[in-house]
Parts: sequence; structure tokens; C-alpha cells
Amino acid sequence: MALWGGRFTQIADQRFKQFNDSLHFDYRLAEQDIIVSIAWSKALVTVNVLSNSEQYLLEQTLKKLLAEVQANPEHILSSKAEDIHSWVEEELIKKIGVLGKKLHTGRSRNDQVATDLKLWCKTQVMVLLGAMRDLQKALVSTAKVNQDAVMPGYTHLQRAQPVTFAHWCLAYVEMLMRDETRLQDTLKRLDVSPLGCGALAGTAYKIDREQLACHLGFASATRNSLDTVSDRDHVLELLADASIGMVHLSRFAEDLIFFNTEEADFIELSDIVTSGSSLMPQKKNPDVLELIRGKCGRVQGALTSIMMTLKGLPLAYNKDMQEDKQGLFDALDTWLDCLYMSVIVLDNIQVKRLRCQQAVEQGYSNSTDMADYLVAKGVPFREAHHIVGKVVLEAMKHGVVLEELSLAQLKQFSVVIEEDVYDILALRSCLEKRNVRGGVAPQQVAFAITEAEKRLAP
Ligand code: ARG
Repeated sequence: MALWGGRFTQIADQRFKQFNDSLHFDYRLAEQDIIVSIAWSKALVTVNVLSNSEQYLLEQTLKKLLAEVQANPEHILSSKAEDIHSWVEEELIKKIGVLGKKLHTGRSRNDQVATDLKLWCKTQVMVLLGAMRDLQKALVSTAKVNQDAVMPGYTHLQRAQPVTFAHWCLAYVEMLMRDETRLQDTLKRLDVSPLGCGALAGTAYKIDREQLACHLGFASATRNSLDTVSDRDHVLELLADASIGMVHLSRFAEDLIFFNTEEADFIELSDIVTSGSSLMPQKKNPDVLELIRGKCGRVQGALTSIMMTLKGLPLAYNKDMQEDKQGLFDALDTWLDCLYMSVIVLDNIQVKRLRCQQAVEQGYSNSTDMADYLVAKGVPFREAHHIVGKVVLEAMKHGVVLEELSLAQLKQFSVVIEEDVYDILALRSCLEKRNVRGGVAPQQVAFAITEAEKRLAP
């Protein structure tokens, strides 16, 4: 039976009921709904709606229900209840009869659903934060063992300057660290309890909302009931966080997909995260990475979807807001899965150092260093840039790299070029010279690894 049958003389059309019901997705809020109900039963004692013994019985029954839900959450799905709030109340009434009917005094599903969802978000954020840390740790470990794995760094997907695989890993550590702090900021703002705001105007029972918030583990209680029951900023923020996080993971995936091509051939992905082709026996496809890259789309979709749903909604609660959950659940699940998968990829990756090094050597990626060399000899940079451009053309004509041109050949482009240019053109020198904070010099990378390790230490 619906929670609201009294005013109605006809029962709902089956198709409408199906359209309206949310139990098939909001059953995931079961634990939160029960915990919120226990806290609410305690608050009802303070305003003499429930006696201590009634509250005790309610709490014991709710705890029993919680254990059942934890053991088999999917069992809820066999019910015809409208939503998770109705389900919990129905189960309670089934178990203890009329006393169960007292629990909803002074509250509404509007403040209830807002509270349940925030509690769910808080738990989920903690899980996501853990997964982000695990991925950062995996990146740092991969960096640590690949500090001397030189590879081309790219701009416009053209070989640009030498970097190391370690430096590449640490770039993603930075992104994940921003994702982590972004999520922590979101957490701070969502840690405010809606319970006690009733349907929209506040509960008519003189409940201490701050104490109630504290019982539920929130930092404080919200300050305006109209806003509270219609606020889904936390859903927007989490989806924005997820969208940005997934953009980062999609770039990580794309880089690795590229490194894994036969054309680049910088890495070997493990068999445990790749799959074959049903037709072409030689293939080993980076499916895991393509899925991470692809799933980014649905997460962005969830953000756009709820943005549009909330746009122009009048205060306060409207049923449109029930649309907040599926996208959020799916997006956060997806984000988490992608974080987990990225760790497995990294933990089993092999960097093909020789191939990486060959690619750097063939890529004229020491051209900037040659220009800097000319600058050190007094040539203005713009002129040096032009000279080296000509040297590159010449080297290409002969099918050689810069350092394979003889001194006599080089001198044709600038008389200031001496034997010492070959030291400058050496790969090691290209790396070592970039010895600034955040630069690719091995010393800087080692320092960055130590810093990251310190930050990530338990
Ligand atoms: N299932 C609803 C939701 O998720 C719960 C709140 C219903 N409130 C109402 N006034 N009908 O938003």
C-alpha cells in the first residue's frame, strides 16, 4: 500500500506506478534510510512523540532490518513498494505493527531522501578518495622504477623534447591530487544535515536539529528548509568532480593506448587486461583503456542531465528531483571502476626502454638544446631557432640525427659551433639541464617522487 492512499478513491494505473516508482534504483539507499530512521526515532523521544521503550523497540527492529539489508540488498527489489522510504516503513510495520506507523511523525520523504542521499554520498566519497590514493601510489611506484626510462615528450603528437616515463607518471599524480582535493572540498559543503526540514517549511516538532545532525555524523544542520529540500548542489558537484576526474583518466588511457600502438611500441600491456580479436589471431587489444576513455562520455552525460533537470525548477521539492540518483550512482560507480582498472593496468605494465630511447633519438627532440647552445655562444634565440631549423632539414635530408652530422657540416650553419655541441646534444644532457622545480631532470623527478611518497604515506 502506498504511503499516501487516504485522499485517493482510485488506485494508480499500473503503468503510472511503474513510471513513478524509484525503488528499483533507490534501494541502494536502504542502509542510509534505516540509519536516518533510527536517528529520527531518537529525536522523537525528545519531543515526547515516542516513549523510551517504544524507541528502543523501533531501534532494535530497524537494526534487524539493517542486518537483513546488508546480507541481501537485492531482496528489496522483489517488493512493490514505491521507493526505499516506503519500503523501510512497510517492513517496520510488518515486523512491529502499529508502532511502526509512528515513525514518520514530523518528517517528510523530502528531508529524508535529501539526508539519505547525502549520507550515501559521504560514504561513496570516502571510497573514491581511497581509490584515488591507490592509483596515485601505483603511479608513484611505476615512476620510481622508470626514472631512467627516457622517452619522447609530445606536443601536437609530434616528438618534442625528451622526458622520462617517470615524469609522465608524475603528471597524472598531479591531476589525481587535484581530483582528490576537489572531492574533499565537495565533501565539506555537503556535510550538512537536511533532517528536520520536513516537506519544505521545517518540522512542527521542536527537535534539536544540530544534535540530530551530530548523531548522523554530519558537521552541522542546514539553515533554510526551502533550500534544503530542493538543494542538489552536492549531486552537481560530485558529478562535476567525476567528470573532471574522468577527463583525466581518459587522457591517461589515451596516452597509454598510443604508447601501446605498434607504431610507438613504448609499453607492453599485460595479458590480464587485454583481449583478443575473434578474427585476427595476432591482435592484443587495449580494451581496458578504451573502455576507460569511452566511459568518460557517460559520466559527462550524467552531469549534463542533472544540470538540465534542476535548471528552472521552482522551490522547493519537485518530483523531477527523483531523477538525481541514477546518473549519480552510475557515474560514481563508473569513476570508481575506472580508478580500480587503472591501478591494475599500471601494476602490470612493462616499459620498453630501448624502444622509447630509440624514439627519442630519432625524433630531433634535442633541437631546443642545440638552440640553447647557440644562445650560450651569443646568438640571439630567434636566430638560433632558425639556424637549428636549417640543421634539422639538413639532417633529415641525410636521414641522420643531429649528432650524426660532422662538425664540419654543422659549422656550415654557424661558425660558433664547436666540438662541445655533441655533449649538449646527448640525451642525458637534455634531461639534466631541465633542473628546475617541476622539470624533467632526474634529480627533480627523484625529489618529486619523494614528495609524493611522503604525501601518500598512510
Ligand atoms: N522517491 C522520491 C525521490 O527520490 C522521494 C521523495 C518523495 N517526495 C515526494 N514529495 N513525493 O525524490
